[in-house]
This record gives sequence, C-alpha cells and structure tokens, in this order.
Amino acid sequence: MSSWISDSTLPWHSILMLRILKCGRIPKHIAFIMDGNRRFAQKSNIEKIEGHSKGFDKLSEVLQWCLEIGVEEVTVYAFSIENFKRSKEEVDGLMDLTREKFNRLLEEKEKMKKHGLRVRVIGNKSLLSNDLAKLAAEAELMTRDNNQSLLNVAFSYTSQDEIANACNIAVQGLIDGRLENEDIDVPFMSKCLYTQDSPFPEIIIRTSGETRLSDFLLWQGCASYLHFTGVLWPELTVTDFLWAIFKYQRVAEEIDVLHKKLLSRDLTSPRQEKFIENVEAERWSTLERTLAAGD
Ligand code: FPP
Ligand code: MG
Repeated sequence: MSSWISDSTLPWHSILMLRILKCGRIPKHIAFIMDGNRRFAQKSNIEKIEGHSKGFDKLSEVLQWCLEIGVEEVTVYAFSIENFKRSKEEVDGLMDLTREKFNRLLEEKEKMKKHGLRVRVIGNKSLLSNDLAKLAAEAELMTRDNNQSLLNVAFSYTSQDEIANACNIAVQGLIDGRLENEDIDVPFMSKCLYTQDSPFPEIIIRTSGETRLSDFLLWQGCASYLHFTGVLWPELTVTDFLWAIFKYQRVAEEIDVLHKKLLSRDLTSPRQEKFIENVEAERWSTLERTLAAGD
C-alpha cells in the first residue's frame, strides 16, 4: 500500500529538470483537480475503485515532486459534495479507500514529521460518517506541529459550501456582537474560509481535459494561473508537472503582483483579529471534540 509521500528514486533527467525549474519562481501554493481516474480504469480494464487507488498513488508521487521543488502548500480535490451523488458502490468504495489511506497516514507520523508536512482536511465534515470524521481529525491533530509544508485535502468540499459556511461564521459574530457591519470585508471573509490564513494558490492544475473549475477554490483561485492538461490524473508524469510550472513561471510576476497588492488580505481592525483568532482556536477544539466523541 503506497505511502502519502513517495520515496521512489527519481530518474536523473527528472532530477535535472526539477533543478532547472528551481532557478525560476516556484509557486508557494499549488492546487490540483485530480480528474480522470475512472476513464483511466476503463482504459486499463480495471475496476473504478482501482482507478481511484491509482489516483492516490499518483498523489503520493506529486507530493514528492512538490516537496522536492520547495512548494509550501498543496491543495487536492479528493471528493466533492457533488460526488455523493455517484452510485452507492462507488461512494462506499471511495470512503473505504479514504479510511485505508488515513489509517496509513496515522502510521506515518515520523515520516510526516521528517518532511514537516501538516495535513488539513477542508470541507463540510458534517456530511462524513463519524469514523471518517474522527480519522481526519486524528490526522490533522497528529500533524498539527509540522510546519514546513501543508497538504489540504478537500474532501466533502465545494467552494459554494465553503463560502456559505464563511458567511455563517461572520453572521454569528454579528448576532452575538463580537463584530460590526464594517468588519465584514474581503480580507476578513478570506480568513473565514476553510483555508483560513493560507496564501491563495498561484496555480490550479486540472487533468483529464476538462476545462472547468467544478466549484473548487472559486474565491482563492480568483487570480490563479489555470493549467488544463488532457492527461488522465493517474498518468500524469513529472514532465507534465514541470511543464505546468514552467508555463506558470512565464506569468508568475503578474500573479505575484495581483496576490500581493490587489488582493491584500491584511485585517484592519483588532476586533477582526480577535474574532479570527477565536475561529482558529474553535477549529482545533472542534477537532479535539470530534476525536474524543463516542461513535
Ligand atoms: C476524479 O476522477 C477523482 C475523484 C472523484 C476521486 C479522487 C480521489 C483520489 C485520487 C484518492 C485520494 C484519496 C485521498 C484520501 C486523498 P473521476 O472519478 O471524476 O474520473 P473520470 O473523470 O474519468 O470519470
Ligand atoms: Mg471526472
């Protein structure tokens, strides 16, 4: 069963290409829409769930490549709220695969620590079964102090749900008097999202030839470079990955300006800061309560 971060030895030409790329600007945050697992399964004459499992193996390679070039944050679309509408067999299979992978993650505490990789599950956890929500909470708490890089697993996620949730957080603050109307501005709302304080992704990569965002990081991706490739996710190669980063590097400066100046996300009032600190603390408490709760 494959690990979350692949240990495979990269061929010399891949290492060379990665090094060349590192001379240019490396995005701080890359997001992936891992699409095409079922088409890969069909093409390879294997079960759908096997296609998803191969998709996970690819994620583990991609994480190795990202860490190798110094990317600090990776967000992957692992399961959308829309995906609950797929057949019971496929949804159950994906939930079992995720259970298996999170159990594996819990066995990899030392490796995650060595790489300094924290894992955060972003999405509507109220839609998850108790055991899966617990596993996710355990993984998040276990990797809490790892601070070199961050993997966001978007699971039971859509952007619209995330934005509605952020509105609910803000409305609660208005109702109980901790916030005033003028506190509800763009930087503040950004910090109410599941991605909290994260930098916005400079690049969003979608595989399998679909040229849509499918309700993924609509707010955070407002200035991202979008890279669409026809390759199916389980077939993505290091060259495809490097090509995407290379294309990004050609527009990196413009994206940087947008992210730094136009999309400044600094909070302006101590009231906002105090409120956001509270939201953050409450998030950790919720994870601890989830872990402690009986089934
Ligand atoms: C999209 O391909 C892929 C998914 C809906 C699932 C992605 C999940 C993984 C790669 C496993 C990751 C698991 C963890 C725990 C991080 P598709 O099913 O839409 O395939 P298609 O576009 O060919 O129909
Ligand atoms: Mg698809």
